[in-house]
Amino acid sequence: MFLSFLRRLSSAACALLRRGGARTGAWIRARPRLAPWVYPTKTDAENDAAYREFNAGYFGQFGEQERMLADRPRMAFYHAAVGRHVHPGDRVVDLGTGTGILAAFAARRGAAQVYALDHSDILEHARRLARHNALPRVEFVAQHSRDFAAAERVDVILHEQMGDFLFDEGMVANVLDLRDRVLKRDGRIIPSRFEFFCEPVRIRDARRVPFIWELKVHGYDYSCLEKHRPQEPHYYRFNSSDLAVVECFLGAAEPALAFDLMTLEADELPRELRLSRTVIHPGRLDGCAIFFRALVDDDLALSSSPLDPGRAPHWGFRILRCEESHYAAGDTVDVLLRAPDWSEPDTWRWECTRRPAAPA
Ligand SMILES: C[S@@+](CC[C@H](N)C(=O)[O-])C[C@H]1O[C@@H](n2cnc3c(N)ncnc32)[C@H](O)[C@@H]1O
Repeated sequence: MFLSFLRRLSSAACALLRRGGARTGAWIRARPRLAPWVYPTKTDAENDAAYREFNAGYFGQFGEQERMLADRPRMAFYHAAVGRHVHPGDRVVDLGTGTGILAAFAARRGAAQVYALDHSDILEHARRLARHNALPRVEFVAQHSRDFAAAERVDVILHEQMGDFLFDEGMVANVLDLRDRVLKRDGRIIPSRFEFFCEPVRIRDARRVPFIWELKVHGYDYSCLEKHRPQEPHYYRFNSSDLAVVECFLGAAEPALAFDLMTLEADELPRELRLSRTVIHPGRLDGCAIFFRALVDDDLALSSSPLDPGRAPHWGFRILRCEESHYAAGDTVDVLLRAPDWSEPDTWRWECTRRPAAPA
């Protein structure tokens, strides 16, 4: 009896401490001057090491690899791209080979030598698959790409390093590093051209989840929670790969940013993007959808657009949530997206503002 009373007392005390700790943490994080003293920010090297560890663990499992392999538009795109742009006799680096599928496409196309790099444990299975499929001329290298050195420069860098936010798997830094150290001057990167989109969207009513302080549920009003907005960046994003989620773009979709990995320099990416869309689908704005297109030729592209029925389904599109606002036809949505670090979406901040149509 006494023991069970003690147990209840100690669990109530622990719950109280946990709640107090979480509240104090949130209070500190909301104070930009105080937060770095209590939660010192990590150095770039520490962040990089932590991301490498996360990435190697994530892709070391069958689960993620099979989702990518079963993505038909993705695999058709890469198969066609290798068929067109890897030539017999080429020397190729497959950056992040996973199960070795792109290396296999290149070897079967007649590449003289393929270096298949991966830093995760999946490489053991890639070796097993290559033996099983009698794959010739592929050298598997269990290394992070930044540690890889080739005896001679190569003709082609093959890669699939695109994250849901395009930049969040280190694509730009990793590919540019290999390009500068390992690729011949007249070499090719497959894929090298990218379009990044940040399109104002409306979510279908049945799938829409407003911020909690915007809700009134059968007359029960949540507006008083507005001053308790969460500090966690992920709260302000919504992830889906379901084509039934987005009803429409408010304007005509256009790339917010386009670049070519053959010529891009890392510090050339702007730290902020501004775009304007004239509203052609009037009504509510719920946020901005982040997605991308990778292009190999003008007629060979891979899309993760939420409104493209041929999209590569394993990529999620990310919606940067905005508070409800309404637009008339002819109004303009002005979007500002700040990205101090493109590879770290938690650093992104955005706002959408309405510019009414000029009176007729
Ligand atoms: C998105 S998967 C692509 C796998 C494979 N290329 C395919 O198309 O199915 C990325 C792979 O790259 C590996 N990876 C990511 N960054 C790497 C890096 N910098 N060096 C070596 N491997 C890397 C991951 O472990 C993962 O297996």
